[in-house]
Amino acid sequence: MWQRRNEPLTKRKTLTERALRAAYAVASRIIYGDSAHADWMYEKMQRPATCFAIAINVAFYALRVPRVYKITSAMIEPVFGCNLRCKTCWGVLDLEGHRQTLMSWDLFCKIVDSLPKSVESVTFALLGEPLLHPRLHEMIDYVAGRGFRAIVFTNGMLLKGEALSRLAQSSLSVLNVSIEADNEIAGEIRGIDLDILRANVAAFVKAKRLDTEVKLSIVAHPGNRDKLPFILKEWGEFAEHIKICPQMGVSEESGEPFLCIEPWRGNLNFFTNGNVSPCCFDMYNELAIGNLSAQTLSEIIQGGAFRAFLQRITRGQAPPRCLRCTELPVKGIPLRVRKRMHSKKQPDSGLRDKPAQDGSNR
Ligand SMILES: C[S@@+](CC[C@H](N)C(=O)[O-])C[C@H]1O[C@@H](n2cnc3c(N)ncnc32)[C@H](O)[C@@H]1O
Ligand code: SF4
Repeated sequence: MWQRRNEPLTKRKTLTERALRAAYAVASRIIYGDSAHADWMYEKMQRPATCFAIAINVAFYALRVPRVYKITSAMIEPVFGCNLRCKTCWGVLDLEGHRQTLMSWDLFCKIVDSLPKSVESVTFALLGEPLLHPRLHEMIDYVAGRGFRAIVFTNGMLLKGEALSRLAQSSLSVLNVSIEADNEIAGEIRGIDLDILRANVAAFVKAKRLDTEVKLSIVAHPGNRDKLPFILKEWGEFAEHIKICPQMGVSEESGEPFLCIEPWRGNLNFFTNGNVSPCCFDMYNELAIGNLSAQTLSEIIQGGAFRAFLQRITRGQAPPRCLRCTELPVKGIPLRVRKRMHSKKQPDSGLRDKPAQDGSNR
């Protein structure tokens, strides 16, 4: 459905939505010290049951209980492959040929059909560009048809022509566009022209359905940290918030064991080859807890591999892959790998000393 001129670009916020957002703003201020995380919280938790489940998951994490109470979100990799080679991502990794490029329709349906009722949202992302999947719009409608909110992360460079119209007419809840601080850095890090991206996003904003939200996200790295506070001024016509993500990395050397919160976020990740992993940064599937070609999802969730993985983390015996995980700290954004178990030292990129970022969240 194409919008007519003079129509608002976003739907009016309902009373419940306003109340939830206000509650998250207060919670974000209490937990993180500023209200910037409210938008991220709202994206993931719009149902009271999800809030409750996540609160229990986090309590289990804090108490080091090797159990996830409920799975509340899923991340699906429709495409393992990309039209770009960002230096924070594929650009520095040897990933070619590691698993199949496109997720099959049958596998996709198997995943969505077996998601527990506690799941609220399904995000299309992981290691690749979702817009490269020829059936992405059908996947979105399939997800929405089963009562889940569909979220897509995209680099936005393919957001034009037929792909744009199909996405704009789909039942998408959120289109999350990854951006960079300015044209020079965008060229250097992502190899793109930011003006083209901006034009694509503007065209999508005009064409999208009222209930589809456009959001922006950026990876904070030493090359753009000084510019983060000013990004909203440039992109404010498209979105009210920018999600600032700390740059994750995999070092050659192992660090100290740490209590990573990622597996307790209640999110499971589904890769093009059917592997299921509790970590969204498990690009080589070293932490897979099962595969959907051999098992059902409930067997995987309740199975020994998931439990053993959680036990290893709570006992300070995290797998070698976890010990090589790094994250550049950004002020006001909680780290996943923060709680080192034997050492209080954190990796220091210098980002913590910078002023708080406007609208930062994750
Ligand atoms: C891997 S991408 C896949 C989706 C799509 N291709 C995109 O760029 O949005 C998902 C998100 O991860 C972010 N990302 C890339 N490299 C990252 C890193 N090293 N640490 C944290 N996030 C990263 C991207 O900017 C993007 O917002
Ligand atoms: S961040 Fe997204 S666009 Fe960039 S290389 Fe990774 S998957 Fe591709």
